[in-house]
Amino acid sequence: MITLTQQHQSSIRGTLSVPGDKSISHRSIMLAALAEGESKIQNFLTGEDCLSTLQAFENMGVSIKRDGQTVIVRGQGLYGLEEAKVPLDLGNSGTTTRLLLGVLAGSPHHNCIYGDQSLTNRPMSRVTVPLRQMGAKIDGREDGNFLPISVRGGSLKPISYTLPINSAQVKSSILLAGLFAEGLTKVIEPVPTRDHTERMLKAFQVDVKREDNEILLEGNQPLMATDIEVPGDISSAAFFLCGAAMKVGSSFTVKDVGLNPTRTGVIDILKRMGANLSVSINRYIGDEPIGDITVLGDKLEGVTISGNDIPRLIDELPIIALVASQAIGKTVIKDAEELRFKETDRIGAVVDTLSKMGVSISGTEDGMIIEGSQDPLKGGEFNSYHDHRIGMMVAIASLLTNESVTLTDEECISISYPSFFKDFDSLTGCHV
Ligand code: S3P
Repeated sequence: MITLTQQHQSSIRGTLSVPGDKSISHRSIMLAALAEGESKIQNFLTGEDCLSTLQAFENMGVSIKRDGQTVIVRGQGLYGLEEAKVPLDLGNSGTTTRLLLGVLAGSPHHNCIYGDQSLTNRPMSRVTVPLRQMGAKIDGREDGNFLPISVRGGSLKPISYTLPINSAQVKSSILLAGLFAEGLTKVIEPVPTRDHTERMLKAFQVDVKREDNEILLEGNQPLMATDIEVPGDISSAAFFLCGAAMKVGSSFTVKDVGLNPTRTGVIDILKRMGANLSVSINRYIGDEPIGDITVLGDKLEGVTISGNDIPRLIDELPIIALVASQAIGKTVIKDAEELRFKETDRIGAVVDTLSKMGVSISGTEDGMIIEGSQDPLKGGEFNSYHDHRIGMMVAIASLLTNESVTLTDEECISISYPSFFKDFDSLTGCHV
C-alpha cells in the first residue's frame, strides 16, 4: 500500500533513462539461448516478467549468468534445449508464454507451462491453433486455450498464416516455431505490429525478409551469438512523457529510449494532441533506433485514435486515456478490443478507475470515449487490478488531484518498471 499526496500544481521536471525494453529483453534471452556461442546482453530489464523468461530457459538447461542488468547466455543451438524437469512457471508474463510456446513447439520434448491467476485467464488459442497446424502436440485447459498447457514439440512443417488479430506476440510465436520448420514460414500481418523479433533475428544472422505485409522465414537456419544492448522502454517512459505533456510547467527528457517506429505511436498521438515534444534518434543498436525525447507541458486537445494507430501504442492506452481526461474536447479510442485481453481487462479497469476519480469516461466494446476537463481529479483508494500499467496510471493521476491517492497493490509495478517510484520521486520532487 502506498499513499501519494501530490498537488494539482505539481509538475514533472528532469532528465532520466528508463529501464530496458521489456519486449526486447524477452527476445534477447530466447534468441541467445537458441544461438551458437555466447551472447552478452546489457541493460536487460530485471522486471519480473523478463526474469520469468530467464528462469524458464535456465530450467531448460541454458547457462545464464546475471550481474545486475548484464546477462551472459551460453547458447545451446537450435535443437539444444533440454526437457525441463519441472513445470515452467511463467508468472504474469503473456509475452513469455506466447513466444515460448513457439519455441517449445519446435523442441522435441514434453514441457508444461503455467502462470499466475491473471495469466491463467488469458487466451492462448491465438497461438496454439497455428502451432498445432505446424504439427506441435499441444493440450491444455479448454482445448488448449488456457494455461496450464503442455506441449510435445518437434518435426514442424511451415505454414502460411494471416494474423486474425493484430498481435506481435502471435506473429513472433509463429516465426520462432518457423525456425524449427522444414521450409518457408510466412506470416501475413494486415496491420503492422512491433517488429523486434524480425530485427533481432537479423542481428543473430538469420535471413528473415519482409515483402509488403508478409514476413518470410526459411527454417533450420543457425542463429549466431551476438551482443545486445537493450534500449530504454518507451512504454515505461510513456508514463512520464504523458504526465509531463499534460502538466503545464513540466519539462522532461528521457534519454537512450527505443524509437522503433512500430512502438512510437504515443509520440505521434501526443503531437496530434498538440504536445510540445521533440525527438532525436542518436544511434542504432543492432537494427533498433535509440534516442532522446523532450516534452514541455502544454494545453492539449482531444483526438481520435483508431486503426493502424492501435498496435503502435497498445500498451500506452491507459496513460493516454488519462491524458485525454485533461485535454480540451473529446477523445475517442476505437479498434482496441485487444485491451480487454491484457493483464486485466484494461478498458474496464481504466473506465472504473478514472470514473471514480471524476473523469467523464465511458467504455465501448473496442475502446473508450473521454470528455476532457481541466478540473482537479478526486483522490481516494485505488487498486491496480494486478496490472502494472494501471498502477502507474494511478500514480501519474495523483499529480492531477489535491487529495491523497492510495494505491493498495503497487508491488505489481515491478513487473515492468522496478524503479518506478524512485524515478517518480526524483521527477516530481514529492516523496513517496
Ligand atoms: C508484446 C506485444 C503486445 C504488447 C505486450 C508485449 C510483445 O501484445 O501488448 O505488452 O513483446 O510482443 P500483443 O502483440 O498481443 O498485442
